[in-house]
Amino acid sequence: MSRYQIVKQQLLSKPKTWLVTGCAGFIGSNLIETLLLLNQKVVGLDNFSTGHQHNLDEVNSLVSYEQWQNFTFIKGDIRELQDCILAVKDVDFVLHQAALGSVPRSIADPITTNASNITGFVNMLTAAKDEGVDTFVYAASSSTYGDHPALPKIEENIGKPLSPYAVTKYVNELYADVFFKTYGLNSIGLRYFNVFGKRQDPEGAYAAVIPKWTAAMLNNDDVFINGDGETSRDFCFIENAVQANILAAISDVKAKNNVYNVALGDRTSLNALHDSLKKALAENNINYQQAPKYREFRAGDVRHSQADISKGKLLLGYEPEYKIEQGINKAMPWYIDFIKK
Ligand SMILES: NC(=O)c1ccc[n+]([C@@H]2O[C@H](COP(=O)([O-])OP(=O)(O)OC[C@H]3O[C@@H](n4cnc5c(N)ncnc54)[C@H](O)[C@@H]3O)[C@@H](O)[C@H]2O)c1
Repeated sequence: MSRYQIVKQQLLSKPKTWLVTGCAGFIGSNLIETLLLLNQKVVGLDNFSTGHQHNLDEVNSLVSYEQWQNFTFIKGDIRELQDCILAVKDVDFVLHQAALGSVPRSIADPITTNASNITGFVNMLTAAKDEGVDTFVYAASSSTYGDHPALPKIEENIGKPLSPYAVTKYVNELYADVFFKTYGLNSIGLRYFNVFGKRQDPEGAYAAVIPKWTAAMLNNDDVFINGDGETSRDFCFIENAVQANILAAISDVKAKNNVYNVALGDRTSLNALHDSLKKALAENNINYQQAPKYREFRAGDVRHSQADISKGKLLLGYEPEYKIEQGINKAMPWYIDFIKK
């Protein structure tokens, strides 16, 4: 039995109380879905800046009536300390996801990104240490590797950040470390690498590549590739990221106060991704015939990204269950439904 299966069984027999910030967003809504299905008590905090009520409604439709009664939603903003204090009351674990994602958004508006991602983060850390939460798990980012050329990426070797967003995520790690050293708050940072799956928003200027391209293909629009298409990423299916969060919260003392890569440990080029999405659509009887259109490389983008996931395997028992193609096949029916609505 895997460590994840064991932990899930333990949680089912002895439920805990969790706070998920950013619960109306992509990763947050998938976290609350899994936790509620495990009969956990869950508090969710979100200000709907990029998250949606329809994500919460969908989770409601996927869990039982009794499980939904275990969920308390707080509409609030992590930039307000009082909202954070209210949300952490009596919780065992925090899964802190609320932040403004997207490198281009942070280049367009570094001040707003800084407020949510740094001030909001420090508010959450402060509220969590005052409440005495067991473990504070937070969404870190692969962007912290910045201009470090080595592949695969190893947690200990980082470069200089390439965007305001990357600065904020690195500062999160520094603050988490200092809150452990000065106040004894246990935390774990999860450096996500291009997470994808159901409920990742396909709309808006800052949509991530998989939902954006899937929506374009479903609408029979052009798909634009920034650069020559040989840029590569370590795409990580959402279920793998959910697993990492739960394992991090329930981890041993020796695993805490660390950061971990959350990825597959593999690398897929944008050209190959384009083909995989087309193939998955074809399996759902949707044939997209157009070739991609190539344009300039995008500012702030790193050329290649691939994680070494051995630290998470060793210390958390992290074993990603889904490869990229399995993830795409699982997510595709959701996108078809969502976009055709
Ligand atoms: N998706 C990825 O591939 C990826 C990669 C690296 C890191 N991350 C990080 O993971 C976390 C979740 O990302 P996501 O992809 O689910 O994004 P998302 O935009 O879908 O979710 C973020 C949620 O946080 C909420 N939020 C933002 N600012 C807030 C504030 N000030 N107060 C309260 N709520 C606020 C939003 O409304 C949204 O619901 C973020 O911290 C992001 O930086 C994501």
